[in-house]
Amino acid sequence: MSEAAVIDGKAFSARLREKVASEVSRIKSESSVTPGLAVVLVGDDPASRVYVGSKAKQTVEAGMESFEHRYNDDIDEATLLDLIDQLNNDKTVNGILVQLPLPDQIDEQKVLSAIDPDKDVDGFHTTNVGRLWTGGESLVPCTPFGCSLMLKDYLGNLSGKNAIIIGRSNIVGKPMAALLLAESCTVTIAHSRTDDLPGKCREADIVVAAVGRPEMVKGDWIKPGATVIDVGINRVDAPEKGLKDDGSPKTKLVGDVDYAGAAAVAGAITPVPGGVGPMTIACLLRNTVVACCRQNGLPDPDL
Ligand code: GUN
Repeated sequence: MSEAAVIDGKAFSARLREKVASEVSRIKSESSVTPGLAVVLVGDDPASRVYVGSKAKQTVEAGMESFEHRYNDDIDEATLLDLIDQLNNDKTVNGILVQLPLPDQIDEQKVLSAIDPDKDVDGFHTTNVGRLWTGGESLVPCTPFGCSLMLKDYLGNLSGKNAIIIGRSNIVGKPMAALLLAESCTVTIAHSRTDDLPGKCREADIVVAAVGRPEMVKGDWIKPGATVIDVGINRVDAPEKGLKDDGSPKTKLVGDVDYAGAAAVAGAITPVPGGVGPMTIACLLRNTVVACCRQNGLPDPDL
């Protein structure tokens, strides 16, 4: 058995961002509209700060307007809801993203429900969740959307394939299931209580790992030739890389899949980093352009 093909999310996302940028310049030249994305960050979680910074940079690079709203983590819910209301009514804002997680004093679901579903570029509003499951015109959560684009690009028709999704979150697992079901896959949603997870995994032609546990999915869980999509981004100690200045071990990023073990068996696999991660922001930009077109009565872009 030869080593798995590597599904290159970095290259794929760069092509998608180029297509987004060319749609943005077409929209700007044919109408007086510039797509705009507002990102709201509460608190100073380092990972969230990095994500929000990358989102803003790539939004501007695609030719769109980026609006950033940053608050301390002692902000009250009413202030945040007021901001959402302003952004809902601002015509220059086509997409609104509230970076999660939010601090404990804020009801996350209440905030997400306050976003105009047509500006909900994260696809987390229950209206978009319902539209996704019923086959309506929705905005689809960015990470699973990116995974489905890579799967369709690599495998072509997914119809009839057995897919297992490990993880049942609202952000990845559940919308991923809806997307693969819409492609006529037979979908299993597995989780921490699933009985004989390795055995169920071995039946799958497509494995999507989104549990947040470093290298949990082992090579002998994978059916020979299967396609493996690793959504996990876990920072772990890497003593083999030496020590930091403060004496603690250097760290590295790993996925939810034991990459070396799985790559020896799978037909194709996404690496970490450089797989699913870069696709998420590219899909966010894509959703913002789609939202902008729908709000301005323009045809959906070809993205
Ligand atoms: N936090 C982690 N992932 C996401 C995401 O996809 N969207 C938002 N808004 N917050 C996140």
